[in-house]
Amino acid sequence: MKRNIVLSGFMGTGKSTVGKALAQRLGWGFVDTDEQIELLSGMKISKIFSEFGEDVFRRFETLIVFNVSRLSNYVISVGGGTLINPYNREILSKNSLIITFMAQPEVIYSRVCSNRDRPLLNLGREDLILERIRDLLEKRMKYYSMSDFILDTSFKEIFELVDEIIDQIYNIVF
Ligand code: S3P
Repeated sequence: MKRNIVLSGFMGTGKSTVGKALAQRLGWGFVDTDEQIELLSGMKISKIFSEFGEDVFRRFETLIVFNVSRLSNYVISVGGGTLINPYNREILSKNSLIITFMAQPEVIYSRVCSNRDRPLLNLGREDLILERIRDLLEKRMKYYSMSDFILDTSFKEIFELVDEIIDQIYNIVF
């Protein structure tokens, strides 16, 4: 029995924004694993990356994934790299339906380019960001496709995405 909904997918695909609206519609709780990592570590994600490196960030991430995987009736927004780790995938999928958000690289770029708190896209050169997004998306596609379903969020309003998710859940459950 799946008790939660996990929203996965690349940075800038709308996981947190849609996740909050979805949780409200379902009357469920909402939790964002990146926010939990910042609370637990007392540091911004960019600081964890710059001071301790990505490996330490990933360890915090798995710890938080373990904690949230035991929740019930929660929409859980996870970071864009969370599902790459097979252990994270395994513990999340036991108790949660996994939905992956996709978006076109140009749309992702327009959503993330003004935000400096995404260390994997902080390249110091604007002109390289779009290329980096394309490259990471391609590398991660096989992990993202290991989810219950995928939604393209490129040109949709929040309420449309919430409706689509609720329709899909209904199809899966009934
Ligand atoms: C990451 C995505 C970020 C955050 C960290 C690493 C990734 O989360 O977890 O910067 O590996 O794609 P969002 O997808 O919520 O931006």
